[in-house]
Amino acid sequence: MTQRILSGIQPTNNLTIGNYLGAIKNWVQMQDEAETLFCIVDLHAITVPQNPTALHQATLEVAAAYLAAGIDPQKSAIFIQSHVKAHVELGWLLSCMTPMGWLNRMTQFKDKAGKNREKAGLGLYAYLALMAADILLYQTTHVPVGDDQKQHVELTRDLAQSFNHHYNKEIFTIPEPFIKGEAKRIMSLRDGTKKMSKSDPSDFSRIHLTDSDDEIAQKIRKAKTDPEPLPDSLEGFENRPEAKNLLTIYAAFQDKTMQDVLGDVAGKSFSDFKPLLADLLISKLGPISQKMTQYLHEKTELESILKAGAENASTLAEKTLKDVKETMGFVAAF
Ligand code: TRP
Repeated sequence: MTQRILSGIQPTNNLTIGNYLGAIKNWVQMQDEAETLFCIVDLHAITVPQNPTALHQATLEVAAAYLAAGIDPQKSAIFIQSHVKAHVELGWLLSCMTPMGWLNRMTQFKDKAGKNREKAGLGLYAYLALMAADILLYQTTHVPVGDDQKQHVELTRDLAQSFNHHYNKEIFTIPEPFIKGEAKRIMSLRDGTKKMSKSDPSDFSRIHLTDSDDEIAQKIRKAKTDPEPLPDSLEGFENRPEAKNLLTIYAAFQDKTMQDVLGDVAGKSFSDFKPLLADLLISKLGPISQKMTQYLHEKTELESILKAGAENASTLAEKTLKDVKETMGFVAAF
């Protein structure tokens, strides 16, 4: 069976190099190995309050970032989730079959709802059913995600299996979480034990794809480190999360392993290493951010790509939705 891959990013805040190295950059390679669909999950973004102008802008920005980073509309369907109505519809059908007990276990809900659990929206709680719909609509075989999303993909599998079992019919393909190669988890520049996040209050904790050269240089200069020089082996990073993170970034942007780049930089102090890292980031991010600006400035091309992507995705999604509804006993529209 051919592999079919689907993934998505929420249009909330600016994308960081964490999103790029941890997700988008890997997707670019997958396009040649499988059928690929990449969406901008705007319906997920509204599970927490959003400013309409910011949501609108961020949605187009994520699309522009996909393209600028090398997602090719000839190879992949690139679309905005809310343009394919089947997501909402299957999301509802699945939410009726999702045990509350599973939702209670979702760590992301607990994190995002925080102390204000009683005030959190129903959508944040039901999030999993929508994410399962995203995946199952396309008979996805592999879902590339980071660690934080593995639990959701596992629950999606459980949901698909229990649906197939209940109706005694192979309606849904059972998807696998897919973590390719060395998992690149990029951490905050201020605290090497926390994931780099679009929503961290400190702008200095992250580098955005659209940061200017000066901003990149300044953020790297201020990045937290320790007084020791860079070690000559990976064991030397024990208890040095910030040092390890900077080297991870340095290696990932060069498509090399940490071990390989240590050959070049072992023994360097951070005052010598940081300028190298800043230059590398500037040279890699410059072209991406330039292309993003072009797509966002002259939107016709972006819009037509998103339109075609949504049409292709809809064709696949509608087929699954029709099978699901028939199986469940819904009367087809006359
Ligand atoms: N839940 C993911 C996140 O918060 C985003 C997402 C929504 C997703 N639907 C998806 C990822 C389907 C992979 C597949 O980052």
